[in-house]
Amino acid sequence: MTLVNDPGAEPPSSAKTHGLLRPDFVWGVSTSSYQIEGAAREGGRGESIWDPFCRQQGRIANGDTGDVACDHYHRYREDVALMRQLGVGAYRFSVAWPRVLPAGRGQANETGLEFYDRLVDSLLAVGIEPWVCLYHWDLPQALQEAGGWVNRDCASWFADYARLVASRLGDRVKRFATFNEPSVFTLFGYAFGWHPPAVDDAASHHAAIHHVNLAHGMAIDVLRDYIIGASLGAIHNMQPARPVQATAEDRAAARMLDCYWNRAFADPQMLGVYPDALAARMAPFCRDGDLKRIHRPVDWLGINHYSPVYARADSASRLGFAWSDAPADAPRSPIGWQIDPAAFRDVLIDACDRYGLPIYVTENGAGAVELADASGAVDDRERIEYLAAYIEALEEATVLGADVRGYFVWSLLDNFEWGAGYSNRFGIVRVDYATQARTPKASARWYAARIASHRAKA
Ligand code: NOJ
Repeated sequence: MTLVNDPGAEPPSSAKTHGLLRPDFVWGVSTSSYQIEGAAREGGRGESIWDPFCRQQGRIANGDTGDVACDHYHRYREDVALMRQLGVGAYRFSVAWPRVLPAGRGQANETGLEFYDRLVDSLLAVGIEPWVCLYHWDLPQALQEAGGWVNRDCASWFADYARLVASRLGDRVKRFATFNEPSVFTLFGYAFGWHPPAVDDAASHHAAIHHVNLAHGMAIDVLRDYIIGASLGAIHNMQPARPVQATAEDRAAARMLDCYWNRAFADPQMLGVYPDALAARMAPFCRDGDLKRIHRPVDWLGINHYSPVYARADSASRLGFAWSDAPADAPRSPIGWQIDPAAFRDVLIDACDRYGLPIYVTENGAGAVELADASGAVDDRERIEYLAAYIEALEEATVLGADVRGYFVWSLLDNFEWGAGYSNRFGIVRVDYATQARTPKASARWYAARIASHRAKA
């Protein structure tokens, strides 16, 4: 099967912006370990915090778990072949910490490391560059039992884990990121109760933020020391934080959401300071010299972006805001997320100005509750429209001066979408979970053609 020669797959790119991306622009797809690997009890993998969390009643839609997921652990060769058909130049995935260090620290698991060896080698064999993220939310459960991110020692455990992965893969992998969306897993895990460890406690929340930041800085030093020619980044969700109503109270709430969502990690990691509004909350955990240890030079900023986020005032909230849905009249995707490509363009420009780093869009995509026809095909026109509009916004940002060097679709495959389980599909390739059959959707053909047309003109 070829994806690019499909009749009618030429993307509706606009004459206004076509061909404005760098010739070496990186086109990729993203996934994460817990969301696709499965094989939760195989190959010596230890438990992650998501394993027991998913078993708790009522946590995940339909009681879904990542036990099998897309069975990528066994089917990675087929998935690499799919990427090759797409024509992507890069694949961003995460290493599951509990697969390579079942207890989080101490004895490494050779079988787990061999899996990532095989995956990396398969990618390189077909000319796809591996981009490895060290942490996409699956903390080893054993470390959670030792306090997890609330325990300052977790930063050193993470640096040791980074050393293990760097010394194993760093001869072949040069692109590394430390954390994926740290503000999301700390807010959702330590304030909203949506992710493990599902606590709502100010001290734990702020300690976790600080220790993740420290872990980032320590790991950057390790990766730099262990990998010749390393290209290192941090991956942050960045979205405009808007007041749901134009009142002074909601505007103040949106400013606090902006601090937690966009700046609590990016500012200390890339500017060496906490946002003013958070400084007093972070102070009890921040020791002398910590900000210097956090603020280590990185080579690029990864931005994950889907839609704006909204806040409303809530005097009962310790955070200074409550999470809110977008206003009812906002254009939305099939899963209710607001569609606003201009916000994406502005985020790219603002982030480039603020942090002065090359940017890679490490996630962007559209979720849907979609059905396939009898052959497994999905005509996902809304996803194509979303991707086309967002890539055009990226091109506009580039024209306006933003240094954007790559774009990764979330996601290669339908996968385990955290609290929504398998009901919410983000893949450009359909996964039939009963058979594990993979079927490229119309958006996969569209993306392949988009990549091919850029290459042809580059
Ligand atoms: C961000 C996360 O990094 C990823 O795990 C998630 O599936 C997508 N957004 C879609 O919600």
